[in-house]
Amino acid sequence: MTEPTTARAGRQLAVVTGASSGIGLELAKQFARHDFDLVLAAEDRELDRAAGEVEALGAQVEAVRVDLADYEGVETLVRRVEGAGRPVTALAINAGVGVGGPFVGGAPLDDHLNVVRLNVASAVHLAYRLLPGMVEQGSGRVLITSSVAASAPGPFQSVYNATKAFLSSFAEAVREELKDSGVTVTSLEPGPTDTEFFERAGMQDTRIAQGPKDDPAEVARQGYEALVSGKDKVVAGSARNKVMEAAGHVTPDPLMAKGHRKMSEPGSGS
Ligand SMILES: NC(=O)c1ccc[n+]([C@@H]2O[C@H](COP(=O)([O-])OP(=O)(O)OC[C@H]3O[C@@H](n4cnc5c(N)ncnc54)[C@H](OP(=O)(O)O)[C@@H]3O)[C@@H](O)[C@H]2O)c1
Repeated sequence: MTEPTTARAGRQLAVVTGASSGIGLELAKQFARHDFDLVLAAEDRELDRAAGEVEALGAQVEAVRVDLADYEGVETLVRRVEGAGRPVTALAINAGVGVGGPFVGGAPLDDHLNVVRLNVASAVHLAYRLLPGMVEQGSGRVLITSSVAASAPGPFQSVYNATKAFLSSFAEAVREELKDSGVTVTSLEPGPTDTEFFERAGMQDTRIAQGPKDDPAEVARQGYEALVSGKDKVVAGSARNKVMEAAGHVTPDPLMAKGHRKMSEPGSGS
């Protein structure tokens, strides 16, 4: 891997978490195609293969294998980013996992806490560490991968949906605080997308996992474009997602929860 410690003319530096697969890998490819060098983070060995794919697009890439659900893992990533000695001009806080099934009598507590640690704590932690540098330099673009799930309570994904509601609120609030700083914060809100997400969450037997899904490359393209234009959020993927997201803002929560249950209850798939 050629480490992005020396800036080549015209190339900026982007950091992408959860970059080993799915939406994060496709976001990394978007950055590479638009002349960014990259620091990519994920936990497992698959990251090295992903980094190779991104490097083949002409970017210098540093792959950082860390557990971002762990405080020290985030600190390690920050040190590696700082070690590049280059300003970070784009940051995609994307790593995230879900846990399917009932809250009572389902997955062990630590699985739920892991969702909170990764989706919420590590996002806040990384933003807290990297945003000051962007504000100091007077420019920067931040993308936070939330979900259309942010706008609806999610039975059988109860902790996951709540983390996404947190992220959308956090992104919008920090964006407003930074409105005169030259730094923008954009929330990426995909609907069901064809990645490893549902398998990792143990949700293959649900309607939502078996239903139509968007292409992660298209979701990432829309996310990248929203980031560059500094939009507050983008509901990415199909028109169906835009309807779901809009419905979540006008439909009473108990009704949204009932609707979600039909999609996410174990065994709801065929
Ligand atoms: N797929 C969907 O339907 C959907 C819809 C809306 C929003 N999203 C969001 O999109 C984001 C990306 O998910 P995806 O769909 O692309 O799923 P994915 O293919 O499973 O990707 C998840 C990424 O997060 C990384 N990750 C997981 N746990 C980690 C940890 N503890 N430390 C560091 N990295 C970790 C994974 O790397 P390792 O394999 O190395 O752990 C992987 O790179 C998530 O925030 C998810 O909530 C997904």
